[in-house]
Parts: sequence; structure tokens; C-alpha cells
Amino acid sequence: MRRIAVVPGSFDPVTRGHLDVIERASGLFDELHVLVVHNPGKTALLPISQRVSLLQRSILDAGLPGNIVVASWGMGLLVEYCTEVGASVLIKGIRSQVDVAYETPMAIVNRNLAAVETIFLLPDPANAHVSSSLVRQVAALGGDITPYVPPAVAAFLQKTRV
Ligand code: PNS
Repeated sequence: MRRIAVVPGSFDPVTRGHLDVIERASGLFDELHVLVVHNPGKTALLPISQRVSLLQRSILDAGLPGNIVVASWGMGLLVEYCTEVGASVLIKGIRSQVDVAYETPMAIVNRNLAAVETIFLLPDPANAHVSSSLVRQVAALGGDITPYVPPAVAAFLQKTRV
């Protein structure tokens, strides 16, 4: 039986911290779906299709394994996507206690909804301070985001000046 997991998130934009979690998770499963999900609680910077293409480019540039699939999911439940692709595990990166508090209710709800378990991975502490919201803010104010994002994202944000 193939072990399939999903790494869901807004990825607005993908950061070096996300890529670290994706790389670690890809080694633990036969197939890993990196899923861009609309989060109604957040004001988006990039359209979902742009986030998907930046993820694909960044994964390719970083030479990550070929068992990674990038996809997007509209307005439905995350666990519906899991059922559709046969995934029984969600993967989330945990940077701090704040992330634990944010992720725990979602993990319990997803387990109750469809018996989908959530596994928390600890990323490299070097990325503990990196978040998409910080990147959006620094980019909007003209600061240097290259330490926080893959080169394709830095080039795109600098070119489009979003
Ligand atoms: O990167 P984010 O914004 O913290 O990711 C949160 C996300 C998109 C994974 C979460 O909001 C989500 O799972 N949305 C899908 C809707 C859903 O299934 N909600 C019920 C269970 S939490």
C-alpha cells in the first residue's frame, strides 16, 4: 500500500521554512502532495495559480525528490482532498508554541471529520522566525527577502514589486 501524505497551507508565498518541511516529509512517504489551500481568514497577496507555479519552480530548483506533487484545493474541506487522493496523513511544520496552539484544533477537527491524522515536523531552527506574513510585509516595504524565500520567489516578488 502506498503511503500518501498532504502538506497543506496558504504558501503565500512559499518560504525556505516550507521547503525544509516539504523535503523532510518527502523522505517519509511514497507520495507527498503539497496543497495550496485558500484560507478565508487571510488576505491573499498572490493568486493561487501563482503560488502553485512558484512552489513547482522552487521544488525543482532545490532538487527535491520526484515523489512530490503540487496541487491546489478551492473552497472544500481539506480532508475531502485527502480522501480523493488516498492520503491518511497531514503534515504541518511547527516553529513554536504559537504554531502548536494554532494547529492543534485543526488537527483534531480533521481527525474527527475523516480519520486523517496530523503529524507535526520540527523544521530547522534556522527557519524558526520565517513566515509568509513576514515575507509579505518586508517585500511590501521594499526590504530584502532573499534570506527567507527560495530564489524563484525572491525574483518574482522583486520583478512584480507586489
Ligand atoms: O498556511 P495556513 O494559512 O496556516 O494554512 C491553513 C489551512 C489552509 C491549511 C487551513 O485553513 C485549512 O485546512 N483550510 C481548509 C478548510 C478546512 O478543511 N477546514 C476545516 C478543518 S481545519
